[in-house]
Amino acid sequence: ETLRERSLAAVADHINAGRARRIVVMTGAGISTAAGIPDFRSPETGLYANLAKLDLPEPEAVFDLRFFEKNPKPFYVLAKDLYPGNFHPTVSHTFISLLAKKGLLHQLFTQNIDCLERAAGIPSELIVEAHGSFASQRCIECKAPYPEDLMREHVARADVPRCIRAGDCGGLVKPDIVFFHEALPMLFYDRKDLIEKADLALVMGTSLQVHPFAGLPNYVPEGVPRVLFNMERVGSLGTQADDVLALGDCDAGVRELADLLGWREELEAQWRG
Ligand code: OAD
Repeated sequence: ETLRERSLAAVADHINAGRARRIVVMTGAGISTAAGIPDFRSPETGLYANLAKLDLPEPEAVFDLRFFEKNPKPFYVLAKDLYPGNFHPTVSHTFISLLAKKGLLHQLFTQNIDCLERAAGIPSELIVEAHGSFASQRCIECKAPYPEDLMREHVARADVPRCIRAGDCGGLVKPDIVFFHEALPMLFYDRKDLIEKADLALVMGTSLQVHPFAGLPNYVPEGVPRVLFNMERVGSLGTQADDVLALGDCDAGVRELADLLGWREELEAQWRG
């Protein structure tokens, strides 16, 4: 089922004709920038461009398990800015939630750790948090869970939390975010196969620089439309006949698609909450 042309209008027709009932969405930090959470790699505003003050060997070190074991402080300085609770889902999150509400969302794969997908009301069974999240935390030595209220207090002060398990473990506590040198959750590998059943793929707000997530759009079967909502062209998006590039702000792209679908009012109403 191919598109009549490479445009959002054709994507809207595809959906409205009932040809997209298993939509797979893949997201990254770009869908949360409008919520006030910086992304990683944007040249001026990205976190990695603004980490100089933390004295890191390279920006990615802040999410590197081996570096964290030696020096956890920079991560906790950053965690203060990223910790969920003070942010509201964006129009892009709301659009994905609307797809779920309409029974069209097959699966969402997100790299984001901000928990805004859940906040937007997307059912948890439809979400794969490929890089984990701030929703839970544990000791990196004995793996004992660490209480959320204590975590929140430490993060607010940019203090490094230590294991409080009886027996004096004292190990470093880290949110269940996937750091470099750590495995992705099993769920990522279990659900990856769902992409082969997709009849539409939306890729939003990601530079597709970090593997294995960056490979996901390549699992979309040939002939199935892939739509990119992103500031810049990334990965292999745009190389297949049915790829549609909606370059620019993803909220703007999503609003345009919602207009074409006749969903705009519903989207805005749901977004305002
Ligand atoms: P990046 O910062 O690498 O990429 C964000 C992408 O979104 C870029 O291509 C931006 O141009 C684009 N973008 C930013 N704001 C946008 C907007 N309003 N509308 C549309 N596009 C926008 O973020 P990710 O791809 O998510 O790992 O990064 C992947 C992983 O690298 C992250 O999960 C993180 C990091 O190391 C962990 O936290 C474990």
